[in-house]
Amino acid sequence: MNSIPLKNYSVHFNSNAYTSLNAHLNDASFSKLFILVDSNTHQHCLSKFLSEVHSEIDIEVIEIEAGESHKTIDNCVGVWNALAELGADRKSLLVNLGGGVVTDLGGFVASTFKRGISYINVPTSLLAMVDASVGGKTGVDLGPLKNQVGVISSGDMVLIDTSFLDTLPQNQLKSGLAEMLKHGLIKDKAYFDKLTDLKKLTLNDLDQLIYDSVIIKKDIVTLDPLEQGIRKHLNFGHTLGHAIESYFLSHPEKEELLHGEAIAIGMILESYISRELLDFPSEDLDYITQALLDIYNPVEIMPVDYDAIIELLKYDKKNEHGNINFVLLEDIGNPKVNCLVDNNMIKESFEFYTQKCSETS
Ligand code: GLY
Repeated sequence: MNSIPLKNYSVHFNSNAYTSLNAHLNDASFSKLFILVDSNTHQHCLSKFLSEVHSEIDIEVIEIEAGESHKTIDNCVGVWNALAELGADRKSLLVNLGGGVVTDLGGFVASTFKRGISYINVPTSLLAMVDASVGGKTGVDLGPLKNQVGVISSGDMVLIDTSFLDTLPQNQLKSGLAEMLKHGLIKDKAYFDKLTDLKKLTLNDLDQLIYDSVIIKKDIVTLDPLEQGIRKHLNFGHTLGHAIESYFLSHPEKEELLHGEAIAIGMILESYISRELLDFPSEDLDYITQALLDIYNPVEIMPVDYDAIIELLKYDKKNEHGNINFVLLEDIGNPKVNCLVDNNMIKESFEFYTQKCSETS
């Protein structure tokens, strides 16, 4: 698979990834290699990764706990301290071997340690391969509020080894699939169609689908690396999706909701609002809703939850001058940014989602 070049770095795939890594390690005279893992990637991915590193460089491994609730500034402090204690200097390289939590947190730690050291993302979850590891967004959550602290700063390269997906649980695969479906909805209906026809897909198709998603993301972030305009398209489904994810994170009595599962709900809600406000076609709303409910289990969102979820929208990073800016769809592949939506419309979208869930189950 050909590498995908972005402005300052490239995304390399499978065997090319390790060839590029080893060439980089041999060219760049790094003082030490640090590998950030979480408890899962320590167990399932580290030995494979180490077996591919052919360099005399000193290697140290730093581990954090797995899971979104560990994407905190406290864990950054832990990793900054570990780097300092293990002798990291400005010529050190940090490899982030993990899912979105590891790549976001590790990218932030590297971008700020001694005012910035080199880092490489090696995403091991589908979500991190198609979204989190590409585009230079790094950061951590603030309590339950998603990605509130961070910087945009790209690493030296992204290495996608799709064999890491062999050990990924099904629900994590579905979580990543949500971002790929989003790429289809904002850019390419044929891609969305292909993804939703899961019965026709085999694992062999996955590499090409991941590649296609990275191309869609690359095209967008290359045009707008700092999210001044078109990059906001990538937030389709995320305004309400993030608020729902935060709400569920801070309500342990509710079921655990992975990022992609929350985004899938957000995409249904925001497609509904698109129909109401932008004349998005009804048949497309039905098509998207059915396709997503075929993949993702219905989630109970009760009327008593609505106001608290809406309250969380005030922390959305797209907000400007007190306005909550939604990304909606005029058509599949044609998003519109900075749309204002009133609370009654949001509540209607929750009712629509609940109704559709009850018709499906
Ligand atoms: N995950 C959305 C972005 O990178 O802009």
